[in-house]
Amino acid sequence: MRARELMWIAVLCAVAGLSACKTAPPPDRQSQLVAKGQDLFFNETFGGNGRTCGTCHPAENNFTIDPAFIATLPKDNPLFVAEFNPALKENFENPALMREFGLIQENLDGFDDLKNKFVMRGVPHTLGLRTSVQSPGGPRTGWSGDGAPGDGSLRSFATGAVIQHFTKTLNRVPGVDFRLPTEEELDALEAFQLSLGRQQDLALPLPLKGTVPKRGQEIFLDNKLGKCNICHVNAGATANFPGRGPLGNANFNTGVEDLPDQPARLTGKRVPRDDGFRTPGDGTFNVPPLVEAADSGPFFHNNAIETIEGAVAFYDGESFNKSPAGQALAKADPEGAGIELDGTQIVAIAAFLRVINVLENIRQSVVLLETSLAVSSSAERRRLLERAVHETDDSIRVLSGGGLHADAVAHLQEARRLADKAVRSVFFGRKYTEKAIRDQKRARAFLVD
Ligand code: HEC
Ligand code: HEC
Repeated sequence: MRARELMWIAVLCAVAGLSACKTAPPPDRQSQLVAKGQDLFFNETFGGNGRTCGTCHPAENNFTIDPAFIATLPKDNPLFVAEFNPALKENFENPALMREFGLIQENLDGFDDLKNKFVMRGVPHTLGLRTSVQSPGGPRTGWSGDGAPGDGSLRSFATGAVIQHFTKTLNRVPGVDFRLPTEEELDALEAFQLSLGRQQDLALPLPLKGTVPKRGQEIFLDNKLGKCNICHVNAGATANFPGRGPLGNANFNTGVEDLPDQPARLTGKRVPRDDGFRTPGDGTFNVPPLVEAADSGPFFHNNAIETIEGAVAFYDGESFNKSPAGQALAKADPEGAGIELDGTQIVAIAAFLRVINVLENIRQSVVLLETSLAVSSSAERRRLLERAVHETDDSIRVLSGGGLHADAVAHLQEARRLADKAVRSVFFGRKYTEKAIRDQKRARAFLVD
């Protein structure tokens, strides 16, 4: 058990980037806490309806769920409690919207009128949280930054998640329908979640090699053209708004709720307007990081847009440019323009977002593969290798989906094949893993200098 825990710390530190581990508190206590948090996140049901945090934030799907992933789950998966548990049949989830659009029902404004007071939201990944929660006004978690509820910290978010998603009945009585996490459990869950993914923001611009992604990066960073970097500094989750300076993980009303033809509403099912931050809401939503975006759609708080190209194109539309944030950008612009992009430019920005996503996936894959070489337990080795395979599948999908870097894709396919062989090989696992690492690095060399 202890060896296993230490191994996990090594992985998490490595996935997180080595520099973060050097500054982390003494490895032993911290590593134990992270390992405990991991166990709680994936296995603890808190005496509830059978769900765990991992039900909606599974590691093998970038800590989020989407319709394609949901379609692979067996009927009795606790995600679907509303389909088989009579006590949760009404006013808990909307199974049709969950299956078609990956939407989850949330009672952000309280549990007193379940039939009318709810919103439908997508599941955000929980990667890179160390860089994407802090703001001068306190921590901001959830799509609207409200927390769930409480002070907006990751600790109170976990408690809110248990009450919202884990309950056995709609009475939601602690000690009866679920138990609340203890202080120690909250510490452990927080430590685990903070260890996931990037521990620091990128420093843009990167020396990218692809013609189109490179141009996409320029447009992204150009405060007179793409203007993306104003709210997603370094493709992360912090803003630096003209005239207002650095704002941390800020909130804006970008008009996503005003999009016409929102998929969930097209079904005719009732989808109340989501009023965002606070109760009653001020219409704003919290800036998400973009490095992790390309392989974790659908996009925006309501999963309104399926493709990364579509998500970028949103900013060229009426809904954004008429929104309070769009108007504020126009006001700060010498020519009074909000965001105006043409088809080529939209695709170029999306290509850039695809490439930075793949660079992050390659980083994680290499760490997973390298760690797999250092572990003694064959079950752990298999788990690490399988996660590397998933990450590599994402890399391949994200590049091919944008028609990008066929040369890198070929190496990623080879890396995937080798990692898969390593999973199954008793004698040559090490050799295949080492080769897979080489191919990951070769793929990377096609993307960036
Ligand atoms: C039924 C699905 C479901 C389960 C189970 C679930 N979550 Fe979530 N999670 C969501 C949804 C939906 C959101 C978006 C909520 C919002 O915007 O208010 C979310 C948001 C989050 C966020 C905010 C991320 C960010 O970038 O701000 C964190 C952190 C989180 N969940 C942690 C947890 C933890 C910890 C647990 C287990 C105690 C858990 N979740 C269980 C669906 C789920
Ligand atoms: C005024 C601030 C602002 C600007 C400018 C801005 N964004 Fe955003 N962005 C946000 C906010 C806030 C959200 C979350 C909105 C929501 O879900 O309702 C978001 C969400 C996104 C998402 C969805 C991420 C996810 O995980 O679902 C993408 C992709 C995105 N932005 C890309 C861009 C690009 C590309 C640009 C430049 C063309 C840009 N943004 C400019 C504030 C901004």
